[in-house]
Amino acid sequence: MKIDIYEKAWIYAGTAIIVVFLGSMLFGAIVEAAQPPSHVETIDPTTARTDPRFANPGVVINSDGSATVIGLAQMFSFMPMEMRVPANRPVTFRLTSPDLIHGFEIVGTNGNAMVVPGYVTSFTTTFKPGSYLIVCNEYCGIGHHVMQGSLIAEDPSVAPEAGARVAPLGDGSTIAMGALMESSHTAMAHSTDAGHEMEAGAGMVTLMEVGR
Ligand code: CUA
Repeated sequence: MKIDIYEKAWIYAGTAIIVVFLGSMLFGAIVEAAQPPSHVETIDPTTARTDPRFANPGVVINSDGSATVIGLAQMFSFMPMEMRVPANRPVTFRLTSPDLIHGFEIVGTNGNAMVVPGYVTSFTTTFKPGSYLIVCNEYCGIGHHVMQGSLIAEDPSVAPEAGARVAPLGDGSTIAMGALMESSHTAMAHSTDAGHEMEAGAGMVTLMEVGR
């Protein structure tokens, strides 16, 4: 069978494009550790701020040394604004939005997710020591461009002990947030011993597993 030279060229080009596309997907999945969409756990956005899963935004250091970040993305800030996590250890983010769709991009890392009201965004990654900028990359309104936070990955030897809960740092820009911080401070004051805090951390892990 005679195949015209141009047709042959197109067959090769078409095959090459498929190979490149499949290769880039495999590279992303295996080398860059891309994860499947996480939005399977639901939450009522109108009560997200007081939902037990998100009432205390902050970083929880789990007993195995990994960390869980409980965060809110909202118009126009992240809560907590500064997230201190151990470097070179798995950090699991659990994020939601009480208002509309936001982005959560940790610049210079593979941490990049949409935060959609009604769902819990969850992904796990690790960080090299350093300080990273977090930006919202989904246009969310007049303050979109100022919506940013920071993540600091530090040597686990100087990071908080297992079970320690890092104080949530909101900017208190709304009354609701002020009240939320107030309540989380009270909760922290009530659990003074490390064992108590460990329990809170373990509970968080259980919750995550149920969510999956
Ligand atoms: Cu939040 Cu853009």
